[in-house]
Amino acid sequence: MPNLNGTSQTFSKFAGDSKLPTPFYLYDLEAMAGRAGKFKALLPKNAHVHYAMKANAHPELLKLFCGLGFGVDVVSAGEMTRALECGFKPDQIIFSGVGKTVTEIRAALAANIEQINIESLQELKRVGEEAQKLKATARVALRMNPDIAVDTHPYIRTGFRDNKFGLDFTAVAEAIEIVKNAAGHLKLQGLTLHIGSQIRDVEPFRAAIIKTLELRHEFSKHNIEIETFDVGGGLGIDYFSADLAQDEKILEGYAAVLREVFLDSGVPKIFLEPGRFLTARFGVLVSEVQYVKPTPFKKFVIVDTGMHHLIRPALYEAFHRIELVRESKATPELYDVVGPICESSDVLGFERVLPNDIKAGDRVVICDAGAYGSVMASDYNLRGKPGEYFIQNGNIK
Ligand code: LLP
Repeated sequence: MPNLNGTSQTFSKFAGDSKLPTPFYLYDLEAMAGRAGKFKALLPKNAHVHYAMKANAHPELLKLFCGLGFGVDVVSAGEMTRALECGFKPDQIIFSGVGKTVTEIRAALAANIEQINIESLQELKRVGEEAQKLKATARVALRMNPDIAVDTHPYIRTGFRDNKFGLDFTAVAEAIEIVKNAAGHLKLQGLTLHIGSQIRDVEPFRAAIIKTLELRHEFSKHNIEIETFDVGGGLGIDYFSADLAQDEKILEGYAAVLREVFLDSGVPKIFLEPGRFLTARFGVLVSEVQYVKPTPFKKFVIVDTGMHHLIRPALYEAFHRIELVRESKATPELYDVVGPICESSDVLGFERVLPNDIKAGDRVVICDAGAYGSVMASDYNLRGKPGEYFIQNGNIK
């Protein structure tokens, strides 16, 4: 079997480094910067990328994106604080999320961030009240629910009518009333949406944006001009393939859609909030095989990481390629790769092809784990969290 057929040479060099104790996340910062550069280059000139730090909030990554001139999308006061600590300026920060507390709203207002994305009429009122107390003006955008179903796991679909996110289009008139009655403490500057995550077909993005853009005419009637349109994140990757060129094709299609739909829109600023697309490919989770356990029914490879460190397979039945670090020419066989957690959902991969000389002490990498990996890790079973290492200039830090 080829050695790490799907992972870059950079990963294979360090995944087997015995000085790095397993389990650990390993990131390739240069490759990530390369992807970020391509992302930005393909977009329309008036597009501003706000990295959705929920995908991976490690300071090393945040400093990288900040250094590249990206803004950031945060969903909690914790994320906002970290973004500021890592160098983002308040005017580079967008605050999203469906359940902002009074404390969080006050913090966002006090920091005077670029935009608060509003998810309900109740929240719009609350932000107006808090801004009034602080004698501030909150710059807000309405997150719309465009009622578009997308082909992704139902748990990460967000722009359909039965999802908790965004405002129904029928709520717009009341939203405008609330803004008018806020005595200048609310500045409605934009519209925003996010239809879901891990979406590889660009058509739903097009449909959602076109539908939501129509609302600007509604606003014009009230002398409100839309200055920002935030298309959210959601662009996906092919977890079954290591072919990065495919990602770039999808990105080109996505950028073409943005160019097209905004062409004559008169919207001055487009915001984007990508998370996964920027980081997923450039992180792996490295683990050591503890046991190879054949039963009359199945063969298990039991490793020292699992759902506590990478919950995506257990939570969304997500697929992550799993590869042996050392080279082997042994016959391929099927194994379930499982973790140590006391739950049957603790499976990293069902029926994976691995060489049949795989044994305790071998290392495996779980691929495309740079997004929604370490940030969703827990210390369930009190096993502790994995380490995190970064490859930069051919060295580990
Ligand atoms: N903007 C908003 C308002 C969001 O809710 C999200 C993701 C993003 C941007 C970034 O989406 P992305 O470009 O990364 O798809 N834990 C799940 C994904 C949850 C996504 C939540 N919201 C997973 O592991 O697949």
